[in-house]
Amino acid sequence: MKNIAGLSIKTEQSQLYILDQTQLPHQQSWLHCTEVNQMVTMIQQLQVRGAPAIGMAASLLLAYRAEQGDSREQLLQSAEVLRAARPTAVNLMNNLDAMAAALVQQDYVGAAVECAEQLFAEDVQLCLQMAAHGAALVQPGERLLTHCNTGGLATAGVGTAFGVIRLAHQQGKQIQLWVDETRPLLQGGRLTAWECQQLGIPYQLICDNMAAMLMARGQVDRIFVGADRIAANGDFANKVGTYSLAVLAHYHRIPFYVVAPHTTVDPGCSDGGQIPIEQRPAAEVRGVSGSFGSVCWSPEQASVFNPAFDVTPAKLVTGWVLDSGVFEGAAVAAGVLTRLR
Ligand code: MRU
Repeated sequence: MKNIAGLSIKTEQSQLYILDQTQLPHQQSWLHCTEVNQMVTMIQQLQVRGAPAIGMAASLLLAYRAEQGDSREQLLQSAEVLRAARPTAVNLMNNLDAMAAALVQQDYVGAAVECAEQLFAEDVQLCLQMAAHGAALVQPGERLLTHCNTGGLATAGVGTAFGVIRLAHQQGKQIQLWVDETRPLLQGGRLTAWECQQLGIPYQLICDNMAAMLMARGQVDRIFVGADRIAANGDFANKVGTYSLAVLAHYHRIPFYVVAPHTTVDPGCSDGGQIPIEQRPAAEVRGVSGSFGSVCWSPEQASVFNPAFDVTPAKLVTGWVLDSGVFEGAAVAAGVLTRLR
């Protein structure tokens, strides 16, 4: 395997390393990943997270296992185990489908390695294309808002929604960014804030429940979020809390964009109701844990509802920023998304 250098995934001398995102921003610790079950745990614990990134990590692990001498049958079985690690992000399933197709070839080791490397390189390119399309929408001086983490940590490249924001900043548009902290796992407060610091993007961190007030005061000009799966009709699943932002944006007439590569579109899901939503452990809502330790602030047995994602209906979306361009309501209603893959 070639050396690959992503922000959260890298390969060196044919070994695979994952930046442990649960320890950010306080510690940058790279985990050496060699086993399928280890990767499943890393994905489930969100040590590697973000729709494109989990797909990349799973496919690179399969390529590594192929180089280690696993048989074709073992690799196909491992692909099934990895596929079940998290249910919502379709990028995981798409990457594993591509790997399974590569494994059919005579030289399945070479084909698996080439396929995983290509998927990574393709995502880098798709991120740049989305960034260019999305940044063209941003006017100088705009105050943008985003949710969760959709940057280099979540993808192979510059990110999806965050890639747009990053490019607008680099183009000198003097943007300001409101970063939703993103309860319960704080991907905004821990990860997007960290990426902003690294890149010098002016930002202010807010608790999720402050977005409404900012919108009412006219302090949000445009919203960019990512997606874990986009249905054929344009409904999409993203980090829980995205739907409430979309409702707020609609009420306050603020443009609301979803940014994702075509690899996040699932033509097999006719609408958002078909998207499987991951339910997560109660402890994540009862308290918080990370590099700082853990705390439980609710009664220890508090009953909890903890969906990782919610679904935003297409009618609340101003535009879909994909790698092939920006699509608006009428085009999406006419089925343009189903023809992208
Ligand atoms: O649970 P996570 O942290 O994996 O959720 C990530 C998101 O919801 C992102 O917005 C989405 O994957 C798009 S990332 C480019």
